[in-house]
Amino acid sequence: MGKIVITNHPLIQHKLTLLRDKNTGSKEFRSLVGEISMLMCYEATRDLPLQEVEIETPIAVAKTKVISGKKLAFVPILRAGLGMVEGVVALVPSARIGHIGLYRDPETLKPVEYYCKLPADINEREVIVLDPMLATGGSAVDAITLIKKREPKSIKFMGIIAAPEGLEMLSKAHPDVDIFCAALDEKLNEHGYIVPGLGDAGDRIFGTK
Ligand code: PRP
Ligand code: URA
Repeated sequence: MGKIVITNHPLIQHKLTLLRDKNTGSKEFRSLVGEISMLMCYEATRDLPLQEVEIETPIAVAKTKVISGKKLAFVPILRAGLGMVEGVVALVPSARIGHIGLYRDPETLKPVEYYCKLPADINEREVIVLDPMLATGGSAVDAITLIKKREPKSIKFMGIIAAPEGLEMLSKAHPDVDIFCAALDEKLNEHGYIVPGLGDAGDRIFGTK
């Protein structure tokens, strides 16, 4: 079974409170999603493989570490996952970015795929899938199924708020995937929204409602 990590760092929890508040406007919401994603990326990359290198400091030769191999690819699930990209790329500027477009059918709540473009060398990379909301889990499960066909070295999922239903579905469907979220909320409502959640993440990031 993969790890499930709820990153309850005080800075993340404080920013999450501002994010949930219905009076927070799009500009601040976007900044907060970026900041939370950056802080969570620090935790999600904790076990990246390192290799030893030798460099010269102004004082002496030093044996020290760099991240080994081809490193990372981030894959945001459109649209809301896009809001997380800036924050994670600030920490890992050499990462490649793939995109998977999925929307939830409002009636069935099942994800519908409309776009998939992944880095050509994704099979040599560790992948972190980005989506702020893990609600029923359908979008994350389908996105990860698509990525697995390209045989990356590993896959992690990084979200902001999870519902118990989504966490269970994702960890059952992809038990090899580590899951990082900032909060585990109470439940889903009858429309598949996370309670208390933060509303529709895509609409709040892009100001479409
Ligand atoms: C939202 C969210 C996730 C999905 C989560 O996207 O960004 O991708 O719902 O729900 P699930 O876990 O039940 O699949 P939405 O379908 O609203 O599309 P959007 O990001 O384009 O607004
Ligand atoms: N998608 C969202 O944007 N919010 C939810 O609460 C559930 C799915």
